Amino acid sequence: MTGQLYVRGLSLREPVPEDSYLAALPVVRRLAEGEIAFHRPVTFFVGENGVGKSTLIEALAVALGFNPEGGTRNFNFATENSHSELYRHLRVSRGAVKPRDGFFLRAESFYNVASNIDQLDREPGFGPPIVDSYGGVSLHAQSHGESFLALAEHRFGGHGLYILDEPEAALSPMRLMRLMVRMDELVGQASQFIVSTHAPMLMAFPGAEVYEISERGIQAVNYRDTEHWQITRRFLENPEKMLGYLMDE
Ligand SMILES: Nc1ncnc2c1ncn2[C@@H]1O[C@H](COP(=O)(O)OP(=O)(O)OP(=O)(O)O)[C@@H](O)[C@H]1O
Ligand SMILES: [Mg+2]
Repeated sequence: MTGQLYVRGLSLREPVPEDSYLAALPVVRRLAEGEIAFHRPVTFFVGENGVGKSTLIEALAVALGFNPEGGTRNFNFATENSHSELYRHLRVSRGAVKPRDGFFLRAESFYNVASNIDQLDREPGFGPPIVDSYGGVSLHAQSHGESFLALAEHRFGGHGLYILDEPEAALSPMRLMRLMVRMDELVGQASQFIVSTHAPMLMAFPGAEVYEISERGIQAVNYRDTEHWQITRRFLENPEKMLGYLMDE
């Protein structure tokens, strides 16, 4: 794994106000204790719903100048101003080199990004326009998964910082593996990924650093030790047994 660290760590430049819901989030409580450092070109944040994964990576994206709804740094459409104030309190330790490319993906608002794809294609980028790669068809004319993979395969250009919130949401298992292959190519071209995910398959990306967030804070773990992996493995081994057990309760 080569890659490049454009973001080396996250910390708080000032405390988050105690009366804000943010102060109670496990991820913010952990930030208050010191920096979360990035050591690998691919970092995953995993953990239960609501621990603050999206809040954290969205704050990182906004602090770096990305549109909170998703997109490149030049994207400035706004549909709903729902991002948190955490970015104002966040200190981002940057690497010596600046990324040449970048994208912030929020699964929830990819629709809006697709709506602005004409704008995306007008921006300076590395690859050919995305619409070209699909015979000039707008991303809206493709399925959610197809359009997301088109973005990663045709528009992510390398030497980039890619911040992705649950990229698996759109993808079949086969396409998720295609995304992982594409990520590997991009890492080989000096890219960094910071990703929140619930997908055990994605966490197995070779050499990635997996941070599991829970009430106990944030732990760097082997992906096989995550709750997601363990539960999925047990389920797949014997779905009838697990469901029978749960449903009999
Ligand atoms: N404006 C708000 N006021 C109060 N609480 C909020 C607000 N916005 C978000 N939250 C809470 O912040 C918590 C963290 O949300 P976040 O979306 O970061 O979780 P997550 O780890 O990404 O979860 P998931 O796995 O479901 O995507 C949630 O419990 C949510 O209810
Ligand atoms: Mg989330």
